[in-house]
Amino acid sequence: AIDPVRVLVTGAAGQIGYALVPMIARGVMLGPNQPVILHMLDIPPAAEALNGVKMELIDAAFPLLKGVVATTDVSEACTGVNIAVMVGGFPRKEGMERKDVMSKNVSIYKSQASALEKHAAANCKVLVVANPANTNALILKEFAPSIPEKNITCLTRLDHNRALGQISERLNVQVSDVRNVIIWGNHSSTQYPDVSHATVKTQDGEKPVRELVADDDWLRGDFITTVQQRGAAIIKARKLSSALSAASSACDHIRDWVLGTPEGTWVSMGVYSDGSYNVPAGLIYSFPVTSLNGEWSIVQGLTIDEFSRKKLDATAEELTEEKALAYSCLS
Ligand code: NAI
Repeated sequence: AIDPVRVLVTGAAGQIGYALVPMIARGVMLGPNQPVILHMLDIPPAAEALNGVKMELIDAAFPLLKGVVATTDVSEACTGVNIAVMVGGFPRKEGMERKDVMSKNVSIYKSQASALEKHAAANCKVLVVANPANTNALILKEFAPSIPEKNITCLTRLDHNRALGQISERLNVQVSDVRNVIIWGNHSSTQYPDVSHATVKTQDGEKPVRELVADDDWLRGDFITTVQQRGAAIIKARKLSSALSAASSACDHIRDWVLGTPEGTWVSMGVYSDGSYNVPAGLIYSFPVTSLNGEWSIVQGLTIDEFSRKKLDATAEELTEEKALAYSCLS
């Protein structure tokens, strides 16, 4: 028998949590043969709702689900986990300053970093979903120094998938035939969805998206803003923020990281910058990555034109400011 993998989901009583935990229990994240034990953390006001989610997981009788830990105790939640999906955080409420939201999340991610550091399995892989995702991941990295920095990432796969979806809709092709879009930078409205290297599989072979769309104004205008603003469009339509697409993308992120990216395909992940593409080192920044044997690496050698350069720099600048703001909350 295969040993179960312990997967932590924080904020598990929330919207994304509710969509995500059944996907994990069904094998969407780690494959149809991998048993899992779910660890679910939320805060005391959500304890009853969290227990309701646990009841439903039992009722769903998932064959792969070998156990459920539902708790409001951070240490218990983190004990022995191999994968941690950090969805819990403090939302921005009306009238709150950016600094106040940052300060709340910095203190949450600082303490959860320490709990993971102490109690998680060695080599635990971490995905931060909660906003500000890049900067929360950076704080987590700073306060969990024994977790390798390559193991701490944030979610920009939803933005990546949104970009694939927009190209597929525009060209009226299957989304699975579109690949190698890139999300650069912050999971925010300064992110840069880039199709410079994206292709579509056609009957006449692989074709560049730029050639097929043949409308640079759209690619440099509405395409980019639609992807950047998609989260707001979902909130407007649903009166709630994206949840099923966020949960599904979180599964994609972990699956491709752990099981590997398909040959010739890269994906976008927020990772600790090593200075590739002249992005300042020491930021959590979204890059194109491939993964093999559970280790991601940044795709190297892509040409960056002048238009792209400005966009890469602008989103890096925002992240540098966010980092400074986060540090100012620590002192
Ligand atoms: P939600 O408000 O429905 O759920 C959040 C849950 O986190 C709540 O149950 C809350 O009690 C819990 N929580 C709060 N503080 C906690 C703590 N210290 N420890 C553990 N749990 C805690 O929110 P939703 O819609 O599920 O979104 C969650 C986060 O994901 C938000 O920050 C949102 O902005 C972010 N998000 C990120 C996306 C991305 O692509 N990176 C996409 C969509 C949402």
